[in-house]
Amino acid sequence: MINLITNRIQAIASLIDTENIVCDIGTDHGYTAIYIAKDLKAQKIFASDINNKPLSIAKKNVKKYGVEHKVETILSDGLDFIINDKIKINVCIISGLGGNTILSILEKDCNLIDSYIICAHNNTQKIRTWTKNKKYFIQNEKVIEDNNIFYEVIKINKYAGVKIKSKYDILFGPLMRKNISKAFVSYWARIEERDRDIYQALVQSDKLKAKKYKIKLKMINKVIGKEIVKYV
Ligand SMILES: C[S@@+](CC[C@H](N)C(=O)[O-])C[C@H]1O[C@@H](n2cnc3c(N)ncnc32)[C@H](O)[C@@H]1O
Repeated sequence: MINLITNRIQAIASLIDTENIVCDIGTDHGYTAIYIAKDLKAQKIFASDINNKPLSIAKKNVKKYGVEHKVETILSDGLDFIINDKIKINVCIISGLGGNTILSILEKDCNLIDSYIICAHNNTQKIRTWTKNKKYFIQNEKVIEDNNIFYEVIKINKYAGVKIKSKYDILFGPLMRKNISKAFVSYWARIEERDRDIYQALVQSDKLKAKKYKIKLKMINKVIGKEIVKYV
């Protein structure tokens, strides 16, 4: 199969069912869409990108891996093609972009889309806040490690799953913080180490900012404090 398949792409694909009509926004090389098509998952996949250059690479790859019958490449900014062509989408993947870019794409969220799989470079908490404000649900979520980088993959469903209720749910994810995995503990232990250094640097220079870090560090310790002995 594709030799560039990563843990991250596999984690995304694992959240998709066979019958699904899927889109991959910001497809770039097209590997996620191709993997989902090859894995016999999904009925149809729309692989879109805002830029011509990555889209032409995706197009070549789709041909190379023989999945033209399943994967359609589309030039589009975010969700525009879904809205313009009124395409019903079961799962909309937005992966490998920054949280703020993802949020700007989500501004055009519409009832043609049933669910999202999001894997942001950063600001996942903002994505969860968006989910809470929209009264959507977290259907699935996991932390995965890929090449020594941790990623949060979350599946947001409009109709089923768990609601985001507390500030702990926003920071850690409502499912992940209750079903703690080894990757989750390693991920938060790494953040704790980084934030502790930042906190110590801020204590003298910016007390207000330091206080925010102190609160976050306390929350992290409350959630992974006991688990850390087991895993890290
Ligand atoms: C780093 S790549 C991510 C590739 C792939 N999705 C992944 O997870 O590995 C980001 C891609 O998103 C595209 N992109 C950025 N903003 C976009 C937007 N508003 N709509 C569609 N594609 C966008 C870029 O052109 C680029 O190809």
